[in-house]
Amino acid sequence: MFTTREMQDEIIRLKKEKDICILAHAYQSHDIWEVADYVGDSFGLSQQAAKAPQKTMLMCGVRFMAETVKILSPEKTVLLSNRAAGCPMAEQMDVEMISAVKAQNPDYTVVAYVNTTSELKTICDVCVTSSSAVKIVKNIPNKNILFIPDCNLGQWVAEQVPEKNIRLLQGGCPTHVRMTVKDVERAKKLHPEAKLLVHPECLPAVTAMADYKGSTTGIMDYAKNSDAKEFIIGTENSIVSHLQMECPDKKFYPLSKDCVCHNMKLTTLADVYQCVQGVGGEVIELDENIRLGAKRCIDAMLELG
Ligand code: 13P
Ligand code: SF4
Repeated sequence: MFTTREMQDEIIRLKKEKDICILAHAYQSHDIWEVADYVGDSFGLSQQAAKAPQKTMLMCGVRFMAETVKILSPEKTVLLSNRAAGCPMAEQMDVEMISAVKAQNPDYTVVAYVNTTSELKTICDVCVTSSSAVKIVKNIPNKNILFIPDCNLGQWVAEQVPEKNIRLLQGGCPTHVRMTVKDVERAKKLHPEAKLLVHPECLPAVTAMADYKGSTTGIMDYAKNSDAKEFIIGTENSIVSHLQMECPDKKFYPLSKDCVCHNMKLTTLADVYQCVQGVGGEVIELDENIRLGAKRCIDAMLELG
């Protein structure tokens, strides 16, 4: 039987031997972070995927993230470390539904949060992530924007870019919407000196009470660089423990103990070990027409962001 450290050492040895790049989303556990070549938010992962030299990319995150890597690097073998790890938000809207909305709104530019299926991206104009959404929407020449699927992120973008006419649909992250104004009131009462940092996937009423709103990487950078000593974290709770490890002289509190993404939590270090051994994960394959259609949307994001 391996200890965690021995398994990590074996993963590091095998990934070098087999030319594998391990990409880990910020919501992955710390034992996975320690073996990763790159850890970051969705935007950072897609940028890294486009330039990493390795022949095989192992995504520790959810399915749409692995698909994004395959879209950008079709010549590479792309593995999703746990085949069951999906994003419920990415499954909320499909081609049929958005085609119908587009037909009713022909003069709108369709902006898709990257948390969408590859198939849906083929009928959208440009992708965004939480860290690039405001900048990209500002840079779109059209005034009329249909923003899918997350209406909470879309609402936050609309507030930052009031010159645009932004239309939203009812979609969102089931994990982030669990955090309520009551949670904020409770946490602020318990920790009156703490700064509140939230992800824009949270409900607008929660986001409005925050000292800082941003992507997972944005939240971590803010906390690390701030002079404040205490923080209430309004995003997936793994960020609380990562920050506590990285800044032991500061204190971090979860906004709600319920903010857990069970999909992100599916991947374990043992999954990563099996993948680098060549016996685990799912090899991502995409139909070439879908890949090219989705690539247009992601390329637009990388150019504008
Ligand atoms: P970011 O990685 O853009 O912060 O988004 C968080 C998220 O929920 C990813 O699914
Ligand atoms: Fe999807 Fe929300 Fe989980 Fe992110 S946190 S992967 S948006 S369900």
